Amino acid sequence: MGLVTSTEMFKKAYEGGYAVGAFNVNNMEIIQGIVEAAGEEQAPLILQVSAGARKYANPVYLRKLVEAAIEVSGLDICLHLDHGSDFEICKACVDTGFTSVMIDGSQHPFKENIALTKQVVDYAHDHGVVVEAELGKLAGIEDDIVVNAPNATFTDPDEAVEFVEKSGCDSLAITIGTSHGAFKFKSEPRLDFERLDTITNLLPGYPLVLHGASSVPKEFVDLCNQYGGQIPGAQGVPEEMLRKAAKSGVCKINIDTDLRLAMTASIRKVFVENPGWFDPRQYLAPGRSAIKAMVAHKMKNVLGCSHKR
Ligand code: G3H
Ligand code: 13P
Ligand code: ZN
Repeated sequence: MGLVTSTEMFKKAYEGGYAVGAFNVNNMEIIQGIVEAAGEEQAPLILQVSAGARKYANPVYLRKLVEAAIEVSGLDICLHLDHGSDFEICKACVDTGFTSVMIDGSQHPFKENIALTKQVVDYAHDHGVVVEAELGKLAGIEDDIVVNAPNATFTDPDEAVEFVEKSGCDSLAITIGTSHGAFKFKSEPRLDFERLDTITNLLPGYPLVLHGASSVPKEFVDLCNQYGGQIPGAQGVPEEMLRKAAKSGVCKINIDTDLRLAMTASIRKVFVENPGWFDPRQYLAPGRSAIKAMVAHKMKNVLGCSHKR
């Protein structure tokens, strides 16, 4: 048990035709809910920390919480930096015990993205840490970067091959139509599976990553809306599309928005049904249980990674 890289996880996932879930963490209850689900499902696990999460919780707290989760659960966990925007943040994570970092150079021109990624790869590999990179621009919002749909671009398959060869990255996030947040499609959800198959065939055995892969289940949006506030027009990636992607070269599927929805829906319900409650444990515990149920569902029914530890 301990902090591990994703190398073995991806190898097994690729061969087994399933994907490993990478879940965003921001506080203790979120970590506990996810880790409890992974323990019960006997599933491989990646916990990922965004720059926003680092700012919110302080990276030392998050790392120590993940270490505590490993001690309590006896699981192997990959601790990953999500969307590192520059060399410095990746280096800081490598230096403080992360086992995986993402350098997201997707906003830069192709050659600059390669050069930046290679710089991170050289440093990370020297320290036994693996690197995820991104090619193509996902629509949506992450931290301070906003990409509007017209500026989103899908990953070019030939560029993907050149990118992997020249940068040496261990896994590659590609864009085939998913996006961050709760509003992913204006009309019918569509992913470019032809492109995914082409990239998979050009890079046999190589792990691909799908960001923006929440499904935004209607029941949770309805629950949030029923108990106050409105989340209009929410639309996610249908779960059957994720199951299909997991059977190709996609070995890592990122989920954050669905956890937010599940936790918030359950907490809103507690507040509405129990207006007299004010002990934080009375609403954080149901929030934690909602996270656990959502993650267990993803592992069992969507990613196919239950019992693959
Ligand atoms: O890709 C973005 C993740 O959902 C993290 O979101 O940057 O608000 O922590 P955040
Ligand atoms: P969602 O917003 O679809 O959950 O995607 C999360 C993500 O890609 C984190 O990097
Ligand atoms: Zn992402």
